[in-house]
Amino acid sequence: MTAGPEENRPTPLLVRALRREPVERKPVWFMRQAGRSLPEYRKVRQGVPMLEMCRTPDLCAEVTLQPVRRHGVDAAILFSDIVTPIEAIGIGVEIQSGVGPVVAEPFRSRADLDRLRSFEPEADLPEVAEAISIITGELGETPLIGFAGAPFTLASYLVEGRPSKSQERARAMQLEEPALFRDLLERLADISIASLRSQVEAGVQAVQVFDSWAGSLSEATYREAVLPVSRRLFTEIESLGVPRIHFAVNAGHLMEAMAEAGPDAMGVDWRTPLSQARRRLGEGFALQGNLDPTVPLAGPEVLERETRALLADAPELGHVFNLGHGVLPSTDPAMLTELVGLVHQITEKAN
Ligand code: CP3
Repeated sequence: MTAGPEENRPTPLLVRALRREPVERKPVWFMRQAGRSLPEYRKVRQGVPMLEMCRTPDLCAEVTLQPVRRHGVDAAILFSDIVTPIEAIGIGVEIQSGVGPVVAEPFRSRADLDRLRSFEPEADLPEVAEAISIITGELGETPLIGFAGAPFTLASYLVEGRPSKSQERARAMQLEEPALFRDLLERLADISIASLRSQVEAGVQAVQVFDSWAGSLSEATYREAVLPVSRRLFTEIESLGVPRIHFAVNAGHLMEAMAEAGPDAMGVDWRTPLSQARRRLGEGFALQGNLDPTVPLAGPEVLERETRALLADAPELGHVFNLGHGVLPSTDPAMLTELVGLVHQITEKAN
């Protein structure tokens, strides 16, 4: 077998940190780093609906690369959305600005399952692989992160029909019709598995599975209704050979259970100290996080103080610096650039 150029590339900092290998400095990236905090993003987005952007490879590549150019982050994350594959198989969904995904006809009964046909990325959404190829060509040694929605969070959008505070309808469906709810999650897992596989084949070097709204579940319900499906998802993507991150917001009570799904790294939001996450999870997982996204709104002194405090509490091995959730649209991008420099400077190993 002849080694292609990618086999000769050094393993990126991000990938080494996610594998809990020694690094010369800690890698940093931000959830929602591509987005409304950047004037150059707002300019490209003008008049282009979100999902159309995701289907236009050169625009998608451009906004994916913007935060890497501006901030010098250690990874890009593919510009897309967790509902993109669902829309690509014909479910009417629109992303409304300031709201999020809105589903034209929410899922209510078993008959709705027939609307979820299997997802064939190469046929249904070839633009994503094209975008990945442009992005990785431009990125050089900086890795690209791919992602997908976890089955519960995707199901919550389909059942609720729109973003919801505590996913009442989805949780009620789980209670009333657990078999239907399970079948829905299994189908959604298959869609996310297909999406992640094709993203890795196209060149992403790590993946993150967003179960953003899992925190609305009790641990008992999570374990019974969701964990077996998320565990299957993580098991099926293990052979892709890239590190896998599992993330939820407001889900400190689920940390051990979510880790049992089998990722390589756990994303932690700002409510749980990293030292506590380390104690509870043991040495077996890398941790990603977890600066409160409001810290960059609070001025440079606060930014430095909080960053130093976070790093002092973080594990030495196996830590990827990130916010505890996405960049807030009102963030001054200069504060994020400053933050990247701070983390690099504080964690740089003298040699
Ligand atoms: O930079 C990145 O992080 C990559 C791009 C990305 C987007 N969505 C782009 C986006 C990623 C990783 C996502 C994932 C996503 N989408 C999640 C999981 C992450 C999380 O935040 O917990 C969820 C829950 C969604 C669903 C969704 N899409 C929401 C809640 C929203 C926000 C609505 C809003 O306007 O505030 C979206 C829209 C969306 N997805 C935007 C972006 C940049 C905003 C679109 C705009 O510019 O108006």
